Amino acid sequence: MSRILLPKNSKFKKGNYFKGKNIKILKKINVYRYNPDNKSNPTIDTFEVDLKKCGQMVLDALIVIKDNIDPSLTFRRSCREGVCGSCAMNIDGRNTLACQKSVKEIKGDVNIFPLTHLPVIKDLVVDLSHAFKQLEFIQPWLKTNLGIESKTEQIQSIKDRSKIDGLWECILCFSCTTSCVSYWWNGEKYLGPAALLQASRWVNDSRDAEKRRRLKYIEENSNIHSCHSIMNCANSCPKGLNPAKAIADLKKQIA
Ligand code: SF4
Ligand code: F3S
Ligand code: FES
Repeated sequence: MSRILLPKNSKFKKGNYFKGKNIKILKKINVYRYNPDNKSNPTIDTFEVDLKKCGQMVLDALIVIKDNIDPSLTFRRSCREGVCGSCAMNIDGRNTLACQKSVKEIKGDVNIFPLTHLPVIKDLVVDLSHAFKQLEFIQPWLKTNLGIESKTEQIQSIKDRSKIDGLWECILCFSCTTSCVSYWWNGEKYLGPAALLQASRWVNDSRDAEKRRRLKYIEENSNIHSCHSIMNCANSCPKGLNPAKAIADLKKQIA
């Protein structure tokens, strides 16, 4: 079911995008809605936003809708700068960050859905607890032999530091994991591209003392061979990272 929600005094008519004295640039935004309290099926709501009174990004449009049309619209966001990873959602058929996706560049209506294949808590908010448990599983922190009392600085050469380029930039938005078809079917066992890229980040850190143990752990517990190089992960990553390459590198090191 779908319904159209317009602000008061709306002059919007289909095809009437540039008419009127005070020229408006009207955009239709179709948003997935689900409220567990209503006990009804999800709907698609259509909102009208004047792009002249809206910031550049899809997140700005969602904020305009929440502030002016429907305060019940629910989504996560924090930094608005592509750093926190919380505004990940499916926009125009691709998982990405709402704060980094230009609303003006999308041709036609904008279609917004929650991240694919995760349980929806409300509207665009999905349940990431399983994905974060899987991240915890790879123990994403530095393990050294120095002991916590140590005051010794751990020096890393420029060359060694460059080995974690393309890995440390991950902001854990899970756009990649939720794009991966293999993860859709096997997500209970397969750790998925986000957790495995993070695993690679620690495996390749020259300061870490547990490389061998980490690789063994990944080999035995991550179901890494469920990655069939589908590449959706790399295509969706809003930070331009390549989890598929990180997984291939892990497979090579395990072998
Ligand atoms: Fe997000 Fe990219 Fe990290 Fe995946 S690899 S969690 S898409 S930043
Ligand atoms: Fe999935 Fe990426 Fe591998 S999409 S199958 S993790 S290459
Ligand atoms: Fe932080 Fe979009 S709001 S990444």
